[in-house]
Amino acid sequence: MCKRRTFYITTPIYYPSNKLHIGNSYTTVAADAIARFKRALGYDVWFLTGTDEHGQKIQRQAALAGKPAQEFVDEIVCWIKDLWRVLDIDHDDFIRTTEPRHKQKVAKIFNRFYEQGDIYKGQYRGWYCTPCESYWQERELQDGTCPDCGRPVELVTEECYFFRMSRYAPRLLKYIETHPEFIQPASRKNEMVNNFLRPGLEDLSVSRTSFDWGIPVPFDQKHVIYVWLDALSNYLTALNYGEADSLMDRFWPADVHLIGKDILRFHTIYWPIFLMALDLPLPRTVFGHGWLLLEEGKMSKSKGNVVDPLVLVDRYGSDAVRYFLLREIPFGADGTFSIEALVSRINTDLANDLGNLVSRTLTMAERYFKGLLPAPVQAGPGDDQLIQLALETPRLMEEAMERLQISDALAILWKLVNRSNKYIDENSPWELARHPEQQGRLQTVIYNLVESIRFTAVMVGPFMPRTPGRIWEQIKMGHQKELHSWDSLQSWGQLKPGTKIVRGEDLFPRRNLPEELAWSRPEVTVTGKAAAPSPKADTRQQGLITLEQLRQVDLRVARIIDAVRVPGTDKLLEVKVDLGENGQRRVVAGLARHYRPEQLTGLQVLFVANLQPVKLRGILSEGMLLAAVDDGGRLALTTVDQPVTPGCKIS
Ligand code: MSP
Repeated sequence: MCKRRTFYITTPIYYPSNKLHIGNSYTTVAADAIARFKRALGYDVWFLTGTDEHGQKIQRQAALAGKPAQEFVDEIVCWIKDLWRVLDIDHDDFIRTTEPRHKQKVAKIFNRFYEQGDIYKGQYRGWYCTPCESYWQERELQDGTCPDCGRPVELVTEECYFFRMSRYAPRLLKYIETHPEFIQPASRKNEMVNNFLRPGLEDLSVSRTSFDWGIPVPFDQKHVIYVWLDALSNYLTALNYGEADSLMDRFWPADVHLIGKDILRFHTIYWPIFLMALDLPLPRTVFGHGWLLLEEGKMSKSKGNVVDPLVLVDRYGSDAVRYFLLREIPFGADGTFSIEALVSRINTDLANDLGNLVSRTLTMAERYFKGLLPAPVQAGPGDDQLIQLALETPRLMEEAMERLQISDALAILWKLVNRSNKYIDENSPWELARHPEQQGRLQTVIYNLVESIRFTAVMVGPFMPRTPGRIWEQIKMGHQKELHSWDSLQSWGQLKPGTKIVRGEDLFPRRNLPEELAWSRPEVTVTGKAAAPSPKADTRQQGLITLEQLRQVDLRVARIIDAVRVPGTDKLLEVKVDLGENGQRRVVAGLARHYRPEQLTGLQVLFVANLQPVKLRGILSEGMLLAAVDDGGRLALTTVDQPVTPGCKIS
C-alpha cells in the first residue's frame, strides 16, 4: 500500500497568563488554514497547538489573581480551547505543559543532556525579563531594558545548570547556511546568524531556583527546568517522544513550526541545538510571521491594549475574521488591524465579490430555470478563459501555499471570483433571457457560473471553513460528496445538470462603516490589564469587574517598619510591614531604584493582604505594596492622607 505523505505543523504554545488576543489568534488561524489546505490535498496531517503553563510570569499572575497556579491556568486554558472552537480551529492535539505526558518526558530529556555532558552546574549572573521569560547579557540590553519588549529587566545571580550551546554552534551555523528553507522568511536568517550565532553563542542557563512553578530537575529538586526548554520540548512530547511506535515515526521532523518573529531566536538557535543533542533531525522550516499591530502600535497582553477575537467573531462571524487575518497581511510582514480595514475586506471581497457572485448567479438559475441547473449546450466567447483560469487556480494556490504565502493564495482565488463576475457582465444573461433563440447560450453561461462557484467553494474551504457548507445549502449536490474534494477540481463540468438550486440568504451582508466604528469603540479594544477570565463571563463585559470581585481583594493600610536591599539585585527591597491586629508581613518589592530603604520607614501605604505568597530570590513575599507608575517609569507608593490604625481595611 502506498504511504500517504505526512505533514506536521505546530503553533507556539501560548502562555495562559491572560486571555489571548487577535494577534495570538492570527498564528493559530494561519496554521489551521495551512493544515486544512494540506488535508484537502490528501496529506496525512498532524496539527499541534497548546499552552505553555510554567514559569515565573504565570506564577506571579496566579498569585495576583489569588489562585493556586494550576487552578489559574486551568480556567484560562478552558477559555483558550473555547476560543479555538469558536474560530473553527481543527487541531489534532492540544498539549499542556502541566500534563504528566509532557512533564515526564521533559525530565527524561534533561537527564539525558546531563548524562551526556551537555548540561553542567554553574553560577548565573545576568539580566532577566520576566514578561518574556528570557535572559540577556549586559551588552544585549537596549538602554538598560529588554531588547524584545522594552520593559525593565532584573539583575539576577543564582546557582543554575547551563547547556553547552557552544558545543553545537558550529554545526548549527553550517546547517543554517546549507538549508535555506530552514529559517523563513529568508530575511530573518541573517538576523539570527549575525546577531546571535556569529558573535559566539553563550551557554544557556536552563534551570531556576527563585520560584518553583515548573518541572523539577530530576536529580536536583530545588531547581526547576527553564521554561523555554520545557516549552520547546512540547513539539516532541506531544508525539509521545521516547515511546515505541509513537507518532514520532510518522511525523518527525516537523514540516513547519509557525511562530511570531519575536520568538525566532528560541526556535532557530536553542531548539535545533537541543534536537542535535537528542540526535534528532531538525524541522524543515521555522516560519516567523510578522506582527499584527494596532494603529497606535503593538498589541500586547501585558500592556493591556488588545483586540478580543471573541467579540469580533460574535459580530462578524469566524469566516470573515479568518479571511481578514489571512488576506490582509502578506504572510511574514507586519500588518495593522483596524475596523476600517476589516469592514473594507468584508464589503469589498466578501459581500461585493464573492457574495454577489453567488447571489446573482443563483437568483438567475432560479428565475430562468426554475431552480434546476441547466445543461451547457452552446459554447461562446469568454468560456475558455474562465474555464482555463478555474482549472489552473488550484495549482497556483498550491504553489503559493507551498511557500506559505497564504495571502497570495487567496488573492489568486479572488482572481477567479472576479473573472466569474466579469463573465456575468460580459454575457449579460438578462439580455440572453429576453431572446428565446439564445436559450442554449443562457444555459451554458449559468452552468459555467455555477460550476465556477463550486470550484471557488472547494478552494475557499481551508481558509473559511463554514462558507462551503453555506454554498452547498444553495447548490444541492446531494450525495455527490466527491464534488466537494480538491481532486474534483482536475476537470471542468462535473456538476450534474438537473442539480437543484435554492437561493439562500446573502453570504456576507454589507456593513455600514460609521455604524461599525460607533460599535467598535467601547467593544473591541480591551484597555487595562484584564483579570483572569471566568469561562462563563459575557465577552462584552471584558475589562469590567463586579463589586463582588472587587471585594475579593483584601486591601488594607500597612505601616512600613523596616526595609533592606535584597542582595544580588539592584531592583528589589525586602520590606517589613505592620498590619496591626493582623500581625506583621514581609514582602519583596521592586522599589530599590525609586526609594532608599530609610525613606520608607514609617510610611502608611496601601497593601494587598490576601495575595498568595510567592518566593522571590529565596524570600517568601506575602502581599503587595500598591504603587503608581507613570509612562516615564516614575513610581510613587500610594499612601493615606492622614494617620490611621495599621491594618485597617480599605473600602
Ligand atoms: N509561550 C511562548 C511560546 C512557546 S513555543 C514553544 C510564547 N507565548 S505567547 O503567548 O506570548 O505568544 C505566542 C505567539 O503569539 C508568539 O508567536 C507571538 O509572536 C504571537 N503574538 C503575540 N502577539 C502578537 C501580535 N500582536 N501579532 C502577531 N503575533 C503575535 O511566546
